Amino acid sequence: MKTLNIGVIGAGGISDVHFHAYAKNEQANIYAISDLNELRAKEKADKYGAQKVYTDYHELLADPVVDAVSVCTWNNLHAPIVIDALHAGKNVLVEKPLCTTLEDAYKIQEAVKKTGKILQVGFVRRFGENTQLLKKFIDNGDFGEIYYAKASCIRRLGNPGGWFADKERSGGGPLIDIGVHVIDLCWYLMGRPKVKSVSGNTYNQLGNRANVKHLSFYKAADYDSEKNTVEDMANAVIRFENGASLMVDVSFTLHAKKDEITAKIYGDKGGAEIEPELFIVSEKHDTILNISPQVDNATFDFEIGFQNEINAFVDSCLNGTPVISPVEDGVEIMKILTGIYESSEKGCEIQFTPVAAN
Ligand SMILES: NC(=O)c1ccc[n+]([C@@H]2O[C@H](COP(=O)([O-])OP(=O)(O)OC[C@H]3O[C@@H](n4cnc5c(N)ncnc54)[C@H](O)[C@@H]3O)[C@@H](O)[C@H]2O)c1
Repeated sequence: MKTLNIGVIGAGGISDVHFHAYAKNEQANIYAISDLNELRAKEKADKYGAQKVYTDYHELLADPVVDAVSVCTWNNLHAPIVIDALHAGKNVLVEKPLCTTLEDAYKIQEAVKKTGKILQVGFVRRFGENTQLLKKFIDNGDFGEIYYAKASCIRRLGNPGGWFADKERSGGGPLIDIGVHVIDLCWYLMGRPKVKSVSGNTYNQLGNRANVKHLSFYKAADYDSEKNTVEDMANAVIRFENGASLMVDVSFTLHAKKDEITAKIYGDKGGAEIEPELFIVSEKHDTILNISPQVDNATFDFEIGFQNEINAFVDSCLNGTPVISPVEDGVEIMKILTGIYESSEKGCEIQFTPVAAN
């Protein structure tokens, strides 16, 4: 049986989920870990049986035993690490977002082209069982032409602090951190249409609300609430070249009654909700049908989603199976995210040049 030797760069919160999934994949061998924080890397190495620990990721990339890497660092380091990794001959699974600027996204795309290595973007929700199930219905034409989608990811108290709240290292707040998941989910299910224009607003009205007591939330490995230079909420309308549109709103903090995640798509033959739980709406014999698919998990299962994501990456690396979330998709999503920030800053809609048909 072929084996893939894995290096993980960045040993903070999300790395555990990668390690856990690699450990459960018989063809993956967790071999090396790199983190600036040596103790943290050593603890993970002990826990998951990695042989090598590096504080400088360049040394991990220079290790010829490493075949493939997961990049799980702060967002602003994704681009340099991914580009170095590709040029070092490694296949790469990079956590979302692909990077923090459109310029860097194109540089990564160029590096993928030049090196011919595999790059998978960590759009984990694509790998959810319900997403793949719904995609089958979509691909069979059950919803007709999908012309509208709506995505929302509202945290009333959920600024993870640390680097997440530092725009220089994160590239932004809830939009680039959690909005990316629901935007990508809808966009993927809409058939990945080319973005035509973006109009967005970001707000920083509430700050991080670190004063609030009695409610717990996700925190960066090096949590601190001192610095906060990211937006606390964003909304946007995205128009696509095929005439479809997507509406989004996301927040780290908002005076909302509860946290909420929704992703809905609407076509001319039917509609569907993928979040908060799988649901289908259709019409037959002049009758509207509300259909509740009978599945084990009606909503996104984090562990299964990550396992599928890691399994798909290992399979692409070892057997060349097509990448479900390739670099081109990462670039298009970066267009949307950076377009929303630019639109908000300039107070106007941002247009993208149409892609010439070839
Ligand atoms: N897919 C998801 O659902 C999901 C959830 C959480 C985070 N993420 C993504 O995962 C990434 C990491 O997030 P996190 O929550 O684990 O953050 P974290 O702060 O818990 O961990 C980040 C780690 O990266 C390390 N690091 C920073 N610079 C480094 C370098 N040059 N070399 C090696 N290590 C370095 C830090 O020391 C830290 O241990 C981010 O890109 C984030 O967007 C994805």
